[in-house]
Amino acid sequence: MKHFLDIHTTDTDDLRAIIDSAQAMKTARNGRPKGTKDDDQPLAGQMVALIFEKPSTRTRISFDVGVRQMGGETMVLSGADMQLGHGETIADTARVLSRYVDLIMIRTFEEATLLEMAEHADVPVINGLTNRTHPCQIMADVMTFEEHRGPIADKKVVWSGDGNNVFASFAHAAGQFGFDLTFTGPETLDPEKAWFDYCAGKGRPLTVERDPVKAVTGADLVVTDTWVSMHDPQSARERRHNQLRPYQVNEALMKHAKDDALFMHCLPAHRDDEATSAVMDGSHSVIFDEAENRLHAQKAIMRYCLGV
Ligand code: CP
Repeated sequence: MKHFLDIHTTDTDDLRAIIDSAQAMKTARNGRPKGTKDDDQPLAGQMVALIFEKPSTRTRISFDVGVRQMGGETMVLSGADMQLGHGETIADTARVLSRYVDLIMIRTFEEATLLEMAEHADVPVINGLTNRTHPCQIMADVMTFEEHRGPIADKKVVWSGDGNNVFASFAHAAGQFGFDLTFTGPETLDPEKAWFDYCAGKGRPLTVERDPVKAVTGADLVVTDTWVSMHDPQSARERRHNQLRPYQVNEALMKHAKDDALFMHCLPAHRDDEATSAVMDGSHSVIFDEAENRLHAQKAIMRYCLGV
């Protein structure tokens, strides 16, 4: 049984196969109405539980549509509506769900919840985001980069802002797909030490550059994310904004990247905070391709997990 829990815990060859499969499925659907089913129906007769303990637009809808395109059915559940929110253990929930469904996707707070679900489930479990990582997003991001610019290996990717859960999965991807990743942001919001150790161990040490202009110089890809994540206390909002304002991705900063550099943001964005609308809607931006590719990448991830 294959879970998809994180990029650094998935075999490198499997990650490459997932990206290739996602691109092939996207190409095969080219021009097809969104509501139509794929020609092949690998999830026919399969039931997928989509559990959300946090809000979601892209993850929820792209998983739901992806399952339907492949002939399966979904149940979208909120943690609060289930006994999960009323004291039943994760382990018991995993055992029970395994009697009803063929695949579980969960978006939750603590990584421990995801890992306990995977340990006790008899069906594959997919990480739809935890406070610590967001691997489905970065699989879509790698796919998006390669769709526009070819292989991401050895490219310069710069993350500007908070060293958060989305950054963490970028760090894992740097190690697995072999690109150079620079973090530019305030020291107080540095990524976890574990991700520095991971990238160093993969021979792709993370670069930290406090000066955003120096960091972005020569970049093939510039990425940012919201300054206050879903799990951050709203009381930290003003402090975070003050710390992160120098790292806003705007047209002046993008001028230091390569002329053909791409700009990505996983969305939802707070326009004119972490990135200006001029950049988000400008010629470098591929943010809506990224959002679309969640659908294709996750379809490939589900097929990998189910072996279909
Ligand atoms: N990027 C992302 O995961 O979006 P949602 O929170 O809307 O699912």
